Amino acid sequence: MSPSPTRVHGYDRLVRLYDPLAALWSGGGIGACHRIVADRIQPGERVLFAGAGGGRDAVAAVRRGARASLLDTSPRMLAHARRRLERRAPGAAVELRQEDVRDHRPPTPPDVVVACFFLNVFHADEVKALLGRFHGWLSPGGRLLIADFAPLRGSGLHRHLQRLHHDLPMHTFAALTGNARHPIHELGAAVASAGFTRIERRGVRLGGRGPCWYEVIEAHRADAEVPA
Ligand SMILES: C[S@@+](CC[C@H](N)C(=O)[O-])C[C@H]1O[C@@H](n2cnc3c(N)ncnc32)[C@H](O)[C@@H]1O
Repeated sequence: MSPSPTRVHGYDRLVRLYDPLAALWSGGGIGACHRIVADRIQPGERVLFAGAGGGRDAVAAVRRGARASLLDTSPRMLAHARRRLERRAPGAAVELRQEDVRDHRPPTPPDVVVACFFLNVFHADEVKALLGRFHGWLSPGGRLLIADFAPLRGSGLHRHLQRLHHDLPMHTFAALTGNARHPIHELGAAVASAGFTRIERRGVRLGGRGPCWYEVIEAHRADAEVPA
């Protein structure tokens, strides 16, 4: 895989700012994405959170009875996630690993891989390679859950505004963390190319009533097909 522009501890300085900024910028849309993802997780599932950040998804998952592994390169994000888990889900089955997702080899295949607002950190070629890795990690019947910016749609002014809505935070985060700068990803198509099947996509509105500029994708490992 080509080397990443992401600096290892790029997100350390954003620990306290990330969640409020995401809530503000999306008018609650990003929070709605997280809630949809949490609702898809079943008790007892082994869930691996790629780029787990401050652990909000992991808290929701373990409170639903899942077993969570959190993977992140930022030690301060992981420390924040640990504190949050201790406070909001004491005694839960959780493992935290400070590791680059590209170096990770799960000791046990997860039932679910969650990538919330994580793939947007990378260039399209790395996204493609990561989706291939996620597919390889999953247990038979396993699922991938993604929340991220939705692909461009519509025409003229709408496309322009949607691009602006994506590019402004992307350039800000690129300057602060070393994230990749790239056009909006076509994640649905990339998930299909990586071999996932039964792909469901759900648009999520900016501010609850605005345009669907976010989406949640659920996809299954190819061998999860149920024979007719
Ligand atoms: C945009 S934040 C999203 C955090 C969280 N998933 C959420 O939705 O709140 C991206 C996270 O990915 C982590 N990250 C960036 N590059 C990574 C990599 N190569 N491997 C693992 N984590 C990485 C960052 O430290 C950061 O916590």
